[in-house]
Amino acid sequence: MTRAIKRLAVLTSGGDAPGMNAAIRAVVRTAIYNDLHVFGVERGYQGMIEGKIRRLETGDVGNIIQRGGTMLKTARSMEFMTPEGRARAYESLQAFDIDAIVAIGGNGTFTGAKVFSSEYDIPIVGVPGTIDNDLYGTDLTIGFDTAINTAMEAADKIRDTAYSHNRLFFVEVMGRHAGFIALHSAIGSGAGGVMIPENNYNIDDLVLHLKKSAKRQKPFGIIIVAEGNKEGGAAAVAKQVQERIENYDTKVTVIGHLQRGGSPTCIDRVLASRLGYEAVNALLAGKSNVMVGILNNDLSFTSFDDAINRTKPVNDSLMRMAQILAL
Ligand code: F6P
Repeated sequence: MTRAIKRLAVLTSGGDAPGMNAAIRAVVRTAIYNDLHVFGVERGYQGMIEGKIRRLETGDVGNIIQRGGTMLKTARSMEFMTPEGRARAYESLQAFDIDAIVAIGGNGTFTGAKVFSSEYDIPIVGVPGTIDNDLYGTDLTIGFDTAINTAMEAADKIRDTAYSHNRLFFVEVMGRHAGFIALHSAIGSGAGGVMIPENNYNIDDLVLHLKKSAKRQKPFGIIIVAEGNKEGGAAAVAKQVQERIENYDTKVTVIGHLQRGGSPTCIDRVLASRLGYEAVNALLAGKSNVMVGILNNDLSFTSFDDAINRTKPVNDSLMRMAQILAL
């Protein structure tokens, strides 16, 4: 039998992602619309352990939809990985009579949610928020679109100086073990090459490709390297290429945490609003232990298990196209 939910907590955990605020706003306002009391947990699971929980009203989430980061702050909690930490977190929830949770985050967040809901009887629905876009069960995660635009704009700027100085730049982008940010920002910026963890494109292929470019007298370029690339990040790839082709003046740029900040794009704001709204509806409909996502523009629910453990494939034809267009 579905238990009536009256008091809902929302948290953001793991790496922040642009659009998380829009998701928090949607959760809070949808919950209030449905006559629930809503509470914000500060700094994710760590704040739950420490009892950093406060009531949120409609006005508390005003003027945040356009802001990057997360108004609730975030953390990667080591303590929540222990049974003692989770027991303390449950005590805090009980102190506030909280009977359901919306957890916004990525892989680590849903791993925590899965363990917690197996130990304690509290329904949790997850909202995918990570720039990496590496969650199975949703076409896009909140923050990905903003991050690829940031990475693309950075690559555009680097291209100006690469062209002016006849230099070859290796630009490293985030993504942890996934190459989605690299692939999309490479296509968008017209990069001369892209290296991602998901395929077998290696240094030999890249060197061959660069030799072809050199033949047609192209003395500058940008190669986008995913941080999780099997042959190493941008510095390692640049070093190996330099050892094999001497006539390039090479430079390395790591875009880093720039990719995590900034005002979310409209796509991210709409996605986050939709997912936050649907997460509350899902809890009210009795769903638990699932991530809400969008697949082919339709709402979808994926078990935490699948969202975390199944691999979201990179579109092979996009990768092939990126290589062909980079010739
Ligand atoms: O998961 C988001 C992400 O930005 C990854 O792309 C990156 O590998 C990681 O977080 C960096 O984490 P931190 O900010 O904790 O160093």
